Amino acid sequence: MADDYKPPALPAPFTNTRPAPELLTQGAEAHLYKTVSLDPSIPAALKIRPFKPYRHPILDRRLTRQRIIQEARCLAKLVREGVSVPGVLALDWEGQGGDEGGWGGAWLMMEWIDGPVVRVVLEKWEAWMKKNASSLDSAQLQHEEARVKDLLRRIGKTLGALHKAGVVHGDLTTSNLMLRTPPQVSDCGPTGVSMEGEIVLIDFGLASQSMQDEDRAVDLYVLERAIGSTHPRSEPLMEEMVHGYRESHRGATSTLKRLEDVRMRGRKRSMIG
Ligand SMILES: Nc1ncnc2c1ncn2[C@@H]1O[C@H](COP(=O)(O)OP(=O)(O)OP(=O)(O)O)[C@@H](O)[C@H]1O
Ligand SMILES: [Mg+2]
Repeated sequence: MADDYKPPALPAPFTNTRPAPELLTQGAEAHLYKTVSLDPSIPAALKIRPFKPYRHPILDRRLTRQRIIQEARCLAKLVREGVSVPGVLALDWEGQGGDEGGWGGAWLMMEWIDGPVVRVVLEKWEAWMKKNASSLDSAQLQHEEARVKDLLRRIGKTLGALHKAGVVHGDLTTSNLMLRTPPQVSDCGPTGVSMEGEIVLIDFGLASQSMQDEDRAVDLYVLERAIGSTHPRSEPLMEEMVHGYRESHRGATSTLKRLEDVRMRGRKRSMIG
C-alpha cells in the first residue's frame, strides 16, 4: 500500500481504540482493519464501508446500510448453522463520526481469522513449484499434489455446507476463502507452504439466500473460473473440489449437473464473444 495514502477518519468509537486499528486492505467498497474487541486481548476484524462522496447521500446511506446488514445477517445465520465463517461481534449501520461531520459509514466487527487467504497459499506454492519442482523425487511430487488436492476437497466441502444452509456467496474467489492456521503446523512439505487448517468463508457483502441449483452452480463456476485463471493445470484440482462438494450434502448431485450446463454456456459465450 502506498505510504502517502490516508484512509478516511475512523467512525466512533474506533477513534478511541488504543492501539489504533491497523488498516490491512482497502477495496473498492470496504476498508478492512485489524483491531481488538471489547476485551483488548481478543483481536477482531473491522470492515468499514465508508461514505461515498460521489453518490447521492440518501441513496449511498441506503445501499451501504443494506449491504452491511445483509452481510451481518448472513454471517449470523451461518454461524448458527455451523458453517465455517467469522462470528459477528458488533455492527453499526448508521456509523457516526468521520470526515463528513455526520455520517462516517457503516461498519461490521467480526471474529479475527488468523491465517492467510487461499489465494496467497496457492500463489506461494505455485511459485515454489515452478522454480523447484524438478528437484523433487516422485514421492515428494505426489505428496505435494496430494496436499493441494486435499485443500481443494476441503474447499468443496465447505461450499457444500454453505449451500446446504441456504446461502449463496455471490463473489467466490480465492481471496474470499481463508485458511485458519492451526496451533501446530505439522506439514509444510519441501515448499514451506502449510495447507493445514480450517477453510473459513469471508466477505458476504453480495451473498443472498437461495436454494436454487442455478444460483449454487454459478457460485461454483465463478470460483472455478477464478482458480482456472490463476492456476495452470487446474482441471484435476476442480475435480477435487467437486468431489468434496458432492460428499457434503444430498442436494449436491443436482447442483453439479447444473454446473455442467453453466460451464457449457460459459464455453459458448467465450467462443462467440
Ligand atoms: N474476519 C477476518 N479475519 C482476518 N482477516 C480478514 C477477515 N475478513 C477479511 N479479512 C481480510 O481482509 C480482506 C478484505 O476483506 P473482504 O473480502 O471482506 O473485503 P472486500 O473484498 O474489500 O469487500 P467487498 O468485496 O464486500 O467490498 C480479506 O481478503 C482478508 O485478507
Ligand atoms: Mg473480498
